[in-house]
Amino acid sequence: MSLFNVYPLFDITPAFAKDVFVYDTDGTKYLDLYGGHAVISIGHSHPHYIQAIQKQLNSIGFYSNSIQNPLQHTLANKLEAMSDCKDYQLFLCNSGAEANENALKLASFHTGKKKILAFKNSFHGRTSAAVAATDNKKIIAPINAQQEVDFVTLGDIQAVEAVLKQGDTCAVIIECIQGVGGLDEMPTAFYTAVAKLCKEYNTLLIADEVQSGFGRTGDFFAFQKHGITPDIISIAKGMGNGFPIGGIFIQPEIQPSFGMLGTTFGGNHLACAAAIAVLEVIAQQQLLSHAKDIATYFIEKTQSLPKLVTVKGRGLMLGLEFDFPVAELRKTLIYKHHIFTGNSKNPNLLRILPPLTIQKEHIDQLIAALQKEL
Ligand SMILES: Cc1ncc(COP(=O)(O)O)c(C=O)c1O
Repeated sequence: MSLFNVYPLFDITPAFAKDVFVYDTDGTKYLDLYGGHAVISIGHSHPHYIQAIQKQLNSIGFYSNSIQNPLQHTLANKLEAMSDCKDYQLFLCNSGAEANENALKLASFHTGKKKILAFKNSFHGRTSAAVAATDNKKIIAPINAQQEVDFVTLGDIQAVEAVLKQGDTCAVIIECIQGVGGLDEMPTAFYTAVAKLCKEYNTLLIADEVQSGFGRTGDFFAFQKHGITPDIISIAKGMGNGFPIGGIFIQPEIQPSFGMLGTTFGGNHLACAAAIAVLEVIAQQQLLSHAKDIATYFIEKTQSLPKLVTVKGRGLMLGLEFDFPVAELRKTLIYKHHIFTGNSKNPNLLRILPPLTIQKEHIDQLIAALQKEL
């Protein structure tokens, strides 16, 4: 059977990975500044992570959500302590799209309304409501187009109010730093004004932290810099360091009922063990402050690069915006310098999403390669 060909692939076959490096089947070593699309948080094949998953697999890997699973409580308590987001409830699922799908569904259940407000250049996933809230017509099938979504320019608070005023919007879904869209972020005043308007018009505020969460920006969540309290926070990617797990934090006033949300695989034993191990490593190795330190170094080092327009993002969710399209440069970095980087909707932006364990010497390696090519 052939594979359904939906991905343009680089001609590289990873066979082994360790910390910030990926090795292909010929033994070529690649520096991973892409993290498998912001997924690898604590580094590839971290020994504590491997041990935790192996140990769990030797006892019980999976049972459905019809029994007690103390690991879910352990994970919830650790998440609360480390994120400093108090009193939320946790629902576990398997991916970022699923997290957003459940968040939007919950907002609709809770408010009784059905429209969504999303932002231009957003990306929230490929399932029903999540893809409808994604600003990319190419990936929205007719069946998804039934969702009613208003797209507003990030930063345009008058436009947000004009939509919410109509009274039929169940949720505003926002990436505080846009990932796929190209790392745009607004000043704090915008986020606080959106949060205030959501309260005023009985609309839930969903912070999509699928990419920016779990310490990627140097804060546990990107929205925390702006001092807002979202009603729902969606998480995935870095949460499992490659093990598929996602979830939503849900404000206490949103009341659950049996059957309201559900999943077969979500929150299974193995997934919980992976996410708990990730949190333990983040704490032990102080990866949040480390991410901020490396970002400072990165910004300083990149200032000397020719053709650089600006450095975007924060922590280890970074982008180098050049004055030319970077597709060729990205290929050269992979095939000639053996460095993985990411792209975005902005053709001039090279995205840097490394494991949070990255060191200064790895940044130096990128800078040397860029100096040479530019
Ligand atoms: C901000 C954001 N939300 C949601 C998603 C969807 O996550 P998943 O691919 O796990 O469904 C992504 C994926 O890139 C993302 O960047």
